Amino acid sequence: MQNHKHLIVANWKMNPSSKEEAKRIINSTKKIAKELKRTEVVICPPFPFIDFVKPDDKKVFSGVQNVFYVPVGTFTGEVSSEMIRAFGAKYSIVGHSERRHLGETDDIVSKKANASLMAGLKTIICVGEETRDNSGDYLNFLRNQIKNSLANVKKKFLFDLIIAYEPVWAISKSTVAGQAMNFNEVHEANIFIKKTLVEIFGKDWVSGVRILYGGSVNFENAENIIKEAKVDGFLVGRESLDIETFPKLLKSVDGIQS
Ligand code: PGA
Repeated sequence: MQNHKHLIVANWKMNPSSKEEAKRIINSTKKIAKELKRTEVVICPPFPFIDFVKPDDKKVFSGVQNVFYVPVGTFTGEVSSEMIRAFGAKYSIVGHSERRHLGETDDIVSKKANASLMAGLKTIICVGEETRDNSGDYLNFLRNQIKNSLANVKKKFLFDLIIAYEPVWAISKSTVAGQAMNFNEVHEANIFIKKTLVEIFGKDWVSGVRILYGGSVNFENAENIIKEAKVDGFLVGRESLDIETFPKLLKSVDGIQS
């Protein structure tokens, strides 16, 4: 990085179960976000709660956890990037491993990524290996996943592209600091992803692409991951729903000088 703000994206997944709880978490996040100087906060709630994050909010931006790749038409249950953009949301998450486990292929991810970028959404594309092996095969997997998920993305959209590195083995693990991941490994993956982006797009184009880390990030490990793995921010699942600890996470990240 590091000449811009830290980016913290709350991925609520299919939580919480009530609108009252959703409002409570959003209000708590907004309250703390007002105090932040070096951190941009994005909340990606389930669609029914998205209106609670006001589109004109200056401190907390709204995002979605999925988009469809056709603007309008006979696609029951889908929501297009254009609709999301028109609603005022600024960010989208595409290709999360939980969606890939439901059958989303690299090809679908690339169609969604292209549609999202063309609609003007800042687009977070999730990548990450399922497991690690000693022979380094996971790096080939990662390279291919990145190349295929970014197929057809035009260079002019790269300033809106964000990569979230989320090794599947590290998602939703223990909240004990450091247990789910090794900071050095995240740092290596960060460098590897940047190298792969250079291979695809050329050196001059990729310096603005932000790299996030996701996988059991919490208020205890956040500061060290940013410092040691040199990522631009986080995609946070479970901890982003906790009104006691998420504010602590945001404050600790905001305290880090870029
Ligand atoms: P987690 O989820 O923080 O609960 O591990 C991260 C994610 O899946 O985006």
